[in-house]
Amino acid sequence: MSKAPLDAIESASIDELQSLQLERMRWSLRHAYDNVPHYQQSFDQAGVHPDDLKHLSDLTRFPFTVKKDLRDNYPFNMFAVPRKDIIRVHASSGTTGKPTVVGYTAKDIDVWATVVARSIRAAGGGPEDMVHIAYGYGLFTGGLGAHFGAEKLGCTVIPMSGGQTAKQVQLLKDFDPDIIMVTPSYMLNLADEMEQQGIDPHQLSLRCGIFGAEPWTNTMRTAIEERMGIDALDIYGLSEVMGPGVGQECLESKDGPTIWEDHFYPEIIDPKTGEALPDGEYGELVFTSLTKQAMPVIRYRTRDLTRLLPGTARPMRRIDKITGRSDDMMIIRGVNVFPSQIEELALLMPQLAPHYQIDITRHGNMDSLTLNVELTQGLGHIDQTERLAIGKELSHKIKTHIGVSCAINITDPGQVARSEGKAVRVRDLRNIS
Ligand code: DLL
Repeated sequence: MSKAPLDAIESASIDELQSLQLERMRWSLRHAYDNVPHYQQSFDQAGVHPDDLKHLSDLTRFPFTVKKDLRDNYPFNMFAVPRKDIIRVHASSGTTGKPTVVGYTAKDIDVWATVVARSIRAAGGGPEDMVHIAYGYGLFTGGLGAHFGAEKLGCTVIPMSGGQTAKQVQLLKDFDPDIIMVTPSYMLNLADEMEQQGIDPHQLSLRCGIFGAEPWTNTMRTAIEERMGIDALDIYGLSEVMGPGVGQECLESKDGPTIWEDHFYPEIIDPKTGEALPDGEYGELVFTSLTKQAMPVIRYRTRDLTRLLPGTARPMRRIDKITGRSDDMMIIRGVNVFPSQIEELALLMPQLAPHYQIDITRHGNMDSLTLNVELTQGLGHIDQTERLAIGKELSHKIKTHIGVSCAINITDPGQVARSEGKAVRVRDLRNIS
């Protein structure tokens, strides 16, 4: 494991951390209120003022910020500093309408690099390591966010970006990197390509993967670790709050990302009522930025569903694995289903590969689910009767554990669409006749 020293705050007491958070939260609320018309209006409407924050718990009196607020202020009206002080923008694609634009001052970029460097270190990385970055570079925060953090830690960076799968594999083989940073779904795509090129992933130099940008289960972790012979660690983040590195799982505990709470203050709320929930309860993750200059976010609703857990490897709190986003939830005949629940069950079956996609279709007034999932490499020869038997077993498990009927379509290896970034797990075909 890396011997790179921790940032002092990573081993501070909870009291020290909370007093820093309070001081920074006061600054952040004041900064947002004084410099962003949206916050001035929303605080005034809610009848609260930055001076009302006496304790961290007073934060619940302040109004939420949602994605629509960012869209309504497109492109730059959420910025709290003059445009000339913004040194970079990123934007999240969004499937419809305008992208969500975020901006950074030079100091913001430095803080971001610091938390990503801290994240790579928590994954066991250090200045001596070579890091292959296969998150996309560009408006997406993944590539550049990872890049600046890895450089800050002193690593040798391979800025590969996403795509060019065959070339990625060639570089992984020829350059001997220690760490790869990539979405978990693209990692599996790369593993397939290795197999096709006759390369045994276990023979590669890679020691660790830092995976995020999309939900992935602990069963997926096991699948990747076994196939690649590496430690698979979870990195969490979102562009509105910063990018990758809002939280990172530590190598020694592998128990969910530690939130870097000195910069991002987390809360869990009931997504229906907006009520703040105690640590340990499941709900929607909400963040308040504590140090961001260019675009402070106050109580930003991420739509990510998880819970807050006490610190283990670090005193700061962790989040549990994200079960999904509230917008990814499928409601099938009255039952709430997340793709991750289906993933968890499918990947427990050794005959099935971790490549899957779920279709939602409508027949009359009834919605139906079909899981398209591949056979494990080497099992492509098995006949229809055996496929039906595997499908029957999985659909029974899904019915028993999740409570929905799900048709299973077992395909040959290589038939499910591959991702080069974030995987598309659900295809909603209800409006396609
Ligand atoms: O995905 C930032 C990122 C890049 C994180 C690379 C980690 C690695 P956005 O494109 O704004 O930013 O998407 C953010 O992706 O709200 C979650 O729904 C999802 N997400 C990100 N990390 C994880 C994770 C980047 N570790 C959205 N587990 C978030 C589950 C994740 N979901």
